[in-house]
Parts: sequence; structure tokens; C-alpha cells
Amino acid sequence: MIVDIFDRIKGTPGPLGQYAGIGDGYFMFPRLEGEIGPEMVFNGKKVLNWSLNNYLGLANLPEVRKADADAAAQFGLSAPMGARMMSGNTTYHMQFEKDFSSFVGKPAGFLLNFGYQGMISIIDVLTSRKDVIVYDSESHACILDGMRLSLAKRFTFQHNDMVSLDKQLNHACKLADEQGGGVLVITEGVFGMAGDLGHLADIVELKKKYPFRILIDDAHGFGTMGANGRGTAEHYGVIDQIDVIFDAFAKSMASIGGVVSSEPEIIDHLRFNMRSQIYAKSLPLPLVLGNMKRLEIIKTHPEYREKLWTIVNALQSGLRKEGFNIGRTESPVTPVYFDGDMGQGTNVVIDLRENYGIFCSIVTYPVVPKGQIMLRIIPTAAHTLDQVDRTISVFMEVKKKLDEGYYNRPIQDMNIFHRK
Ligand SMILES: Cc1ncc(COP(=O)(O)O)c(C=O)c1O
Repeated sequence: MIVDIFDRIKGTPGPLGQYAGIGDGYFMFPRLEGEIGPEMVFNGKKVLNWSLNNYLGLANLPEVRKADADAAAQFGLSAPMGARMMSGNTTYHMQFEKDFSSFVGKPAGFLLNFGYQGMISIIDVLTSRKDVIVYDSESHACILDGMRLSLAKRFTFQHNDMVSLDKQLNHACKLADEQGGGVLVITEGVFGMAGDLGHLADIVELKKKYPFRILIDDAHGFGTMGANGRGTAEHYGVIDQIDVIFDAFAKSMASIGGVVSSEPEIIDHLRFNMRSQIYAKSLPLPLVLGNMKRLEIIKTHPEYREKLWTIVNALQSGLRKEGFNIGRTESPVTPVYFDGDMGQGTNVVIDLRENYGIFCSIVTYPVVPKGQIMLRIIPTAAHTLDQVDRTISVFMEVKKKLDEGYYNRPIQDMNIFHRK
């Protein structure tokens, strides 16, 4: 029986789409307005915003805004036209990728037009059908999608579980040996939901036992982790043992794009083979120049990272002191776990936004187990200690209300404004 594709789509809205009736424009696709920073406007009201990965607060720095504006005035958004391979390459692109990778601690790099697409192609190009990928079970969607594209076999290891990794590496190496292929381990520097770190030092230790290469996605680690902000590999002192490092600019750099860094021959191979770059337009020059400015600030102004960690430490130690469960985070990402179902969770968020003026993201099943709600707080260098104190007090009130059953009511009673 043949079906009409549109009919099928209309009948299956998808895991998020099914909640569009109550959540579109509020929980999903909310509009945060105003200058990027801790205070923005949501639903017509000023909110204290804890939901942007603008970790170092660079998004709204006057010198960053000026660099962006000057570059846009000089080049416009169109330049360069075409993919880098064909007609979209410039000296700026080449200079910037070199500078970025050398800061990260690798001799060569390739600038990517978008992080997500870049990562997909990195995995595709690094692996052949004879190879085997071993990846952390909580890997980001771009890693999962990269593996869908890759022809390699794959095994998953339990999140950050070295016994499980050892076991999977054992299987993977046997299979690779039979097939005449190699093994690639993929994990993240900082896991963006729970804030815990990939156990990079333990993983590279396993190189003594098994022959493999390792690729990390350090989207959240770049700029936040390590003595100089070079990332999670710097934090663990294992830059040399990590074979390929991927960084995205959507977080600390408060921008768009990414860089993959490795040995020159590997980067050359990626440059000539990554389809998401060969067949797509290169990063516009205002973004390249704006990114150069951001990198310079990250290199020369450690005070933004220091301020970030002052806020992170105050927030995380304050929450822990008040008995909140913030899980295993070791990075700025601050998850706050509550016992509760989806209905209670959505009511908590409405109360926070409408009555306390606090905006943060809510994460529910399947990212957290059923019966748990996670509120995800992203501290930045632009926040203040007063804002931290206010948030902890509000969370204490909300927790009390949750325990007393205040949020066990239908969502309509919480006065949600569903704005289209
Ligand atoms: C861990 C991780 N990897 C990759 C990406 C994708 O990067 P981009 O937004 O630059 O496409 C993100 C999200 O931005 C991320 O959180």
C-alpha cells in the first residue's frame, strides 16, 4: 500500500512536535529578545537568563561587536562566494585556522562552516567500512549522525565507564583485525547536558593496551576548560595524546563555525574529502574576522574565564550547600535535578519564568530518567554574584513548592501564555 508522505507526516508530529499544542513558542522556539546577556526579555517581561552558552560573555563585548560590525561593513555577508575548495577561500580563513589550532595545541587545523555538519563529515572521512568506531553512549547528535553516514561498524560504551570501554575496545580491535581496519574512539570533552567531563586521561591510558585513535568533540570545553582555556585536553594534560580535536564556536566564542585540529597530513586529508565543506559555502568573512577577534580576546584576557569560574563556583557550591542535586558536573554546565514528572516540570518552568522572572531550560525524559526533571543552568562571565544568590533563593522556594505538591495541577491552571 502506498501512502502520501504529507499524510504520514501530519499524523506523526515527532517526539517534540507532539507537545506543540502546549509548548510551541514557550518551551520550544521561545523568543528571547534584547541584547545577549543575563537580562533579556521573554514573553514581554524582563527575565534573568541562564540559558545561553555565551560562557565568556563575549557576545556583547563592545570590542567584539565592533569587530563584527567593521568586518560586515568592509566585506558584506556574501564574501567569499562558493565553497573553500572552489572559490571561497581567503588568506583570513587560512590564517585563522592556523592560529586557532596552534592555540588548541595542534600543528594544523581546518575551519568549518558549521560545527554540526563539520563533525558529521570528520567522522565520515576518518573512517572506512573496514574500521570500527567505539563511542560514548551519551554522545551528541552530531556524533550519532556522523556515524550514520560512516560505513564503519560501531560499538557503544556505557557513559564514561572505563570497564565498558575496555570491553568494547577488545571486541572492536578483534573485529578491526579481522577486517584489516582500524579503531576510532569518539567522546566529548564536556558533556553539554550533565556537565561532566569525558574521562580523557583514562581513555588515552588504554592506548597502552589497544591500538586506536581518538577524536573528541570539545564544543563546550574550548574557552572554559584548562589553565589557558585551550579545552578539556589541556585540563587533563593530554593534548598530545588526543589525535583529533573538534571545537565549535557556538559556545565560548559566541559565534558560528568550528575548527578541526590534528596533524598536518590528517588535516589535509580532511580538507580534500569532507563533503560538508567541499559542497557548501565557506564561512562568511565577517564571521572569520569576528572569530579572530574572539580568539585574540580568549588568548589575552584570562579574566573572562576567571570571572566565569567565580560565578560557576558560587552557583554550584551554593546549590550544593542548600541540598540541591547537581549531579556530576565538573564544568560550567549546571544541571539541577528534581524528582517530578513532565507535568510538574513544565509547571515549575512556567512559575520560574512568569512569577520569578528566571529563564532556564528544562530537560526531561529521555535525556534524564523518567520521574526526574532537570533544569539546566548555564552560568557566564557576564552574570553577577547577586544574580547567583537570587537564583539560589528562588530555587529553594520552588523546591519547597514542588515538595508541597503546588505543581501537581493541570498546565492550564498555571496561566501559560501560548503565543503563536
Ligand atoms: C557537543 C556539541 N557538538 C557540536 C555542536 C554543534 O555545533 P554548531 O552549533 O556549531 O553546529 C553542539 C551545539 O552547538 C554541541 O553542543
